[in-house]
Amino acid sequence: MTKTISSGVTLNNGVVMPWLGLGVWQGRPEDGAHVEHAVRTAIEAGYRSIDTAAAYRNEQGVGRAVRASGVPREEIFVTTKVDNANQGYDATLKAFDKSLDELGMDYIDLYLIHWPVSAHYMETWRAMEKLYAEGKVRAIGVSNFQIRHLDTLLAACSVVPAVNQVEYHPRLTQKELQGYCNGKGIQLVAWSPLMLGRLLEEPLVQELAGKYGRTGAQIVLRWDLQNGVVTIPKSAKAERIYENADIFGFELSLGDMERLDALNRNERSGMDPDKFEELWGLRN
Ligand SMILES: NC(=O)c1ccc[n+]([C@@H]2O[C@H](COP(=O)([O-])OP(=O)(O)OC[C@H]3O[C@@H](n4cnc5c(N)ncnc54)[C@H](OP(=O)(O)O)[C@@H]3O)[C@@H](O)[C@H]2O)c1
Repeated sequence: MTKTISSGVTLNNGVVMPWLGLGVWQGRPEDGAHVEHAVRTAIEAGYRSIDTAAAYRNEQGVGRAVRASGVPREEIFVTTKVDNANQGYDATLKAFDKSLDELGMDYIDLYLIHWPVSAHYMETWRAMEKLYAEGKVRAIGVSNFQIRHLDTLLAACSVVPAVNQVEYHPRLTQKELQGYCNGKGIQLVAWSPLMLGRLLEEPLVQELAGKYGRTGAQIVLRWDLQNGVVTIPKSAKAERIYENADIFGFELSLGDMERLDALNRNERSGMDPDKFEELWGLRN
């Protein structure tokens, strides 16, 4: 079926998640003030999905913007995440209530474990299953989980995660992880899909932008869609928010998809899920 800005993928529990969302992680402090404006602009541009997290400290602004948009709450898919400091059963239940409060909402569409903190993620998942059973969240999932984390989780969980949100772009194609997730009914979601903008300088991306009469960002985001991966690019600038949404009206050829795949270097712009605990001092 043709993908459109208002269409989405049906997750493993039947809930539909839009193919495109706005990421609102603000790498630069000066962007913090622009969250509300960015979310309002995105909704005007047709986005129906917003990706935030407790750790981004901007859930309040997201909630205000969704309310002010005039679009009914149930038409907007809101994702947030439990942060590392609040993992564990009781802490997660409390963190969820705080996120609801900050967002000013009475349910969340998708709640994720932000990072697989080894000492806690199984208990965190039990709390997420409770929230799901109680209908407080429409779907639950994980983020930054490697195959080994998913193996451990799947061996003991009652609810299979609906998504795994990971760093994903042509320099980090995650083929093995995607194959694994596809096999288990877990939808991949791409964070840093533009590699924080760095991919736009790549000569092949520029060449394809010329060939298709598109921008480099549109080429890279289109590659996500054609690989069956949900994408959540971040921009605080109106013209880029519109640009990043205009990816549904063209198609990359199979050959060009393969050339983009061949840019893979297993290169990350963000934290490595196998190293974050050591680097962030989270190992017990
Ligand atoms: N689960 C996780 O651990 C995790 C980790 C990182 C990110 N995320 C999520 O994924 C979202 C996206 O990832 P990201 O913010 O790291 O990186 P990204 O979306 O790959 O790149 C964002 C950067 O690219 C620039 N940009 C956006 N559109 C552009 C365009 N059309 N042309 C040129 N530059 C453009 C933005 O600048 P301007 O704002 O100035 O336009 C910003 O500096 C985040 O916002 C967050 O919601 C999740």
